[in-house]
Amino acid sequence: MKSMLLTAGLVAAFGLPLVLPAPAQEAAAPAAPLKTVSDFDSIADETERSIAIFEETGKVLQHPRCVNCHPAGDRPLQNMDMKLHQPPVFRGDANFGLPGMQCTTCHGPANVDVVAQAEGIQSIPGDPNWHLAPIEMAWQGKTLAEICVQIKDQNRNGGKTLAEIVEHMGKDHLVGWGWNPGKGREPVPGTQEQFGALYEAWAATGAHCPAG
Ligand code: HEC
Ligand code: HEC
Repeated sequence: MKSMLLTAGLVAAFGLPLVLPAPAQEAAAPAAPLKTVSDFDSIADETERSIAIFEETGKVLQHPRCVNCHPAGDRPLQNMDMKLHQPPVFRGDANFGLPGMQCTTCHGPANVDVVAQAEGIQSIPGDPNWHLAPIEMAWQGKTLAEICVQIKDQNRNGGKTLAEIVEHMGKDHLVGWGWNPGKGREPVPGTQEQFGALYEAWAATGAHCPAG
């Protein structure tokens, strides 16, 4: 049923004739490296160390894989150049799309390879929780310093405590999609485990933000 819906959505959108319903879990290319917590041991000042660790996590936060779904407008973005999502889809009242064009029409619970490649698309991203980050969680166009303040602000981070943010970064399945983005997409740097460990170290050193 899901694959039929998916196929119907894609045929409507792109005229793609064939979609494989089998989940495709391998990433396209190895992720770029991310420094580990011990790489920051040489920074004696705790505040400076905290900031340096956060800046390292920025390689992930500001990567198109994350920002494409944390846009400043009402449409998701796509690809490394962060262009507007094609076909045009909108966040809707609950960030799951408009009634006639929900995210789940095309995005299933896992990535799906596209057999007949059209417009260079090799796979459709998927996750059981696939929908747009609420507008107050927008990262597009913001500096890393601004994103840092925002993710600590419970009015703009879904009411999460610092511990819950650390947990979300290191464990959330939708965040983890960034390391497993499907065929034809560049994964975010490092591993989610390393990323989570950096957040634990950031919190333990006072969760300081860069200036600016
Ligand atoms: C498919 C869209 C999507 C992608 C891709 C995505 N997010 Fe999110 N993000 C969401 C949604 C939706 C929420 C709201 C909470 C929830 O339902 O999980 C959210 C919330 C968050 C939050 C908690 C609130 C905040 O903004 O402080 C963090 C942290 C976060 N995402 C990190 C990431 C990171 C890191 C990546 C990339 C590795 C990423 N997200 C990729 C949709 C996405
Ligand atoms: C009609 C089908 C369709 C609908 C509906 C749809 N998408 Fe997509 N989406 C796609 C396809 C196909 C791709 C892959 C495009 C590519 O890789 O060039 C995609 C890619 C994406 C990406 C880009 C991933 C990246 O990093 O490049 C995001 C983010 C995304 N969709 C979010 C959403 C959200 C959020 C919704 C609901 C508001 C939604 N989509 C609704 C078909 C759809």
